[in-house]
Amino acid sequence: MKRKIIFSCLFFVGLLFISCSKDKVGPTPVDCTTTVSFSNDIMPIMQANCISCHDQGNASGGFDFSSYNAVSANAAAALGSMKNSGYQLMPLGGPALPDSTIQKLECWITQGKLDN
Ligand code: HEC
Repeated sequence: MKRKIIFSCLFFVGLLFISCSKDKVGPTPVDCTTTVSFSNDIMPIMQANCISCHDQGNASGGFDFSSYNAVSANAAAALGSMKNSGYQLMPLGGPALPDSTIQKLECWITQGKLDN
């Protein structure tokens, strides 16, 4: 009986250890091996999640994300807000977009914000 308890304790300590060490690894490294397309990848993300509050006529917080030039000029702010890092979390009120979506924007920026 005691053994069982000790074993379950060890098991939970192990689980805790695994989940903690996983946390320390941090965000999944961004895999930018494929070229991100502005028109096929980035614009649809902005259209689906941001433009309702951030287009030319309604630039909430002063940000317009309705064109290549506008997204390109404000890419760092867009990324920061999606990651809630240095900017308020967007989309407003959350939840945050999936990591894979955020990574696309990150790759697009790393790849030089191509107008492709
Ligand atoms: C439901 C409306 C809404 C949606 C959707 C939305 N935003 Fe916003 N956003 C706002 C408002 C309102 C503000 C101004 C907030 C304030 O000043 O407190 C803002 C502010 C911002 C800011 C400035 C934040 C800061 O801390 O200065 C950025 C950057 C931004 N939004 C990016 C985005 C991006 C990128 C998306 C899509 C992923 C998005 N927003 C989606 C309403 C929205």
